Amino acid sequence: MKRIITGGAGFIGSNFIYYMLNLHPEDEFICLDKLTYAGNLENLTEALEHKNLKFVKGDIADRKFIYDLFEAEKPDQVINFAAESHVDRSVLYPDEFLNTNIMGTGVLLDACRKYGNIRFHQVSTDEVYGDLPLDRPDLFFTEKTPLHASSPYSASKASADLITQAYHRTYNLPVTISRCSNNYGAYQFPEKLIPLMIWNAEHDKQLPVYGEGKNVRDWLYVEDHCHAIDLILEKGKIGEVYNIGGHNEKTNMEVVTMILEKTGKSTDLIKHVTDRPGHDRRYAIDPTKIHDELGWEPETPFAKGIVYTIDWYLSHNEWMEHIMNGSYDKYYETMYKDREHKFAR
Ligand code: NAD
Ligand code: DAU
Repeated sequence: MKRIITGGAGFIGSNFIYYMLNLHPEDEFICLDKLTYAGNLENLTEALEHKNLKFVKGDIADRKFIYDLFEAEKPDQVINFAAESHVDRSVLYPDEFLNTNIMGTGVLLDACRKYGNIRFHQVSTDEVYGDLPLDRPDLFFTEKTPLHASSPYSASKASADLITQAYHRTYNLPVTISRCSNNYGAYQFPEKLIPLMIWNAEHDKQLPVYGEGKNVRDWLYVEDHCHAIDLILEKGKIGEVYNIGGHNEKTNMEVVTMILEKTGKSTDLIKHVTDRPGHDRRYAIDPTKIHDELGWEPETPFAKGIVYTIDWYLSHNEWMEHIMNGSYDKYYETMYKDREHKFAR
């Protein structure tokens, strides 16, 4: 079995490569990644020692490049993690999200059709459902919840899901889609809540909490997500969508105070800053379908996963410093300085 993993140098993609090399060492893997700011070959240092993993640099939206690659490699499966993934960036710079997340997915689907009806899995997100109110803890996203995206990021992911489903219905392409809640764990780029707060706490910098910090996210340890995708590839029903989430809802303030507690830092570091425009209030996944049909359930409780994660970032200073030495300072200034003007509506 030969599998192309797009976006494999990013956070979840690199964790997925380690997971799959360990579980299916006999398979061949091609990591295809454009190496944007979020793609980091250092995430794959050990994986690239494996004889069955090859790295190819390229853009999923580059049709000629993708067709040449499929023609040369003749893959059996494509698992699409490649995306622009950060909501805040999509608010300031939507273009690249439309290009990669929508057009790029379309090019991959066309290549799957053209080179032999190749099995395609789209890694999607719970954000395609929009958000839930904070005062209705009884409500959850199921696979039947209508798509109702809020940000350019989530709208681009919702578009990609619809195109993926259309290729199944129209051309009978063998596809599946997974929609997962917020992941945390090793190798996550420190623009996202958990690694950013760990780094800032460790360096006695302010912790910028958007608004009051009451927004709720449903956190899942990244390896549990990888396990779910592997099960969908093995046993998932073609044409179906599977929600992935572990009923682990936390407000942002709960997450941030937990990080401060575990790193031994004071809550005085918390600074409430201008909110994200259109900020989704609550995400909460109902994972009944993947549990009942595929036997999936999360294995890592948050209390354990967050400690692993904090330890990982604190013991991978060099990995963090290489990122910090790049364009990160400029990014941080863009997002957090004069926020009230930049994010004014
Ligand atoms: P990430 O930003 O860490 O990684 C994205 C990777 O895609 C990077 O390696 C980047 O270089 C690559 N990439 C970007 N544009 C590309 C292009 N045009 N061609 C080829 N490669 C390109 O993202 P992540 O957090 O690992 O998310 C991976 C996928 O999972 C995304 O599709 C995202 O929507 C989805 N997802 C993420 C979460 C989460 O909590 N992080 C939850 C649910 C779903
Ligand atoms: O739910 C799945 C989604 O989770 C994925 O599809 C996205 O790719 C991924 O980025 C993530 O989206 P969020 O917007 O939920 O993640 P983020 O880490 O950016 O923010 C989590 C929450 O923390 C959100 O309510 C905004 C808040 N936040 C974030 C940052 C970076 C802050 O309060 N301060 C911050 O500095």
